[in-house]
Amino acid sequence: MPPDAPDKNGDLILMDTGRALFGQVAIITGAGRGIGAAIARKLAGLGPTAVLVGRTRSHLESTAKAILEAKGKAEVLPCDVSDMNSVGTAAGHVERAFGRLDILVNNAGIGGFSTPLHELPPDVWDGILNTNLRGVYYMIRAFAPMMIRAKAGHIINISSLAGKNALPKGAAYAASKWGLNGLTYSVAEELRGHNIRVSVVCPGSVNTELSPHVGKDPLKMLQPEDVAHTVAMLVTQAPQSFVSEILLRPTQKP
Ligand SMILES: NC(=O)c1ccc[n+]([C@@H]2O[C@H](COP(=O)([O-])OP(=O)(O)OC[C@H]3O[C@@H](n4cnc5c(N)ncnc54)[C@H](OP(=O)(O)O)[C@@H]3O)[C@@H](O)[C@H]2O)c1
Repeated sequence: MPPDAPDKNGDLILMDTGRALFGQVAIITGAGRGIGAAIARKLAGLGPTAVLVGRTRSHLESTAKAILEAKGKAEVLPCDVSDMNSVGTAAGHVERAFGRLDILVNNAGIGGFSTPLHELPPDVWDGILNTNLRGVYYMIRAFAPMMIRAKAGHIINISSLAGKNALPKGAAYAASKWGLNGLTYSVAEELRGHNIRVSVVCPGSVNTELSPHVGKDPLKMLQPEDVAHTVAMLVTQAPQSFVSEILLRPTQKP
């Protein structure tokens, strides 16, 4: 039976999305561990070259090894998203090596969940905002022109439910994610005319090293693969439409 054809009950058989992104290039920031590593593995399974960005080369290499062992394509690209020169160098490399960028997943982020704002040192504030918010600006600034030129692309920003709610002792983190949501909605409007789809994913607590998640059952929490599955859904959405925002929660309250 051909793809997208009705079966004998009249239900539509959906086209198989396996290898749907073959020939494409996807950048995932923070791909060395946690959610970013899971997103990279999941996207690589759909066929593109996964370009793995982060500061620690050895962590990126272990994600690349897992992708290569699964017969996927991966390239390691050490880069600090909070450093404009580092991001510019990475963009130059992608331009020369591939001449295209189809998917940008801005996932790199750092936490900060134990200090009330009035006690937070300014350098800690700067570290959180410069990674979680300014870093996304630098990445879009450097990579969106390649997508605009191609009149196609998908940008997915990994925010948080902390970008929707109050987070006592995590005000800088919450501010970075509330800011990221506003950035995303605005850039989505700027770029949709160029056929670039910009989405934000806001997960609840995910079982990674970002936070100790005191008092929560790690088995009931979201797993990195849940976020990766959501990103795969977004990039395989039919071209006529896009999902601008997803709030992701675990089925069982942890
Ligand atoms: N875990 C949660 O509960 C949760 C919930 C909602 C949203 N999120 C968001 O999901 C994203 C991923 O979080 P995670 O839980 O997977 O955290 P994680 O396990 O701590 O991983 C964070 C990744 O970001 C990279 N990174 C940090 N600073 C960077 C920089 N300046 N430049 C490039 N890469 C950088 C880290 O690699 P290097 O240190 O090697 O650079 C690491 O690979 C974050 O944006 C986070 O805010 C997490």
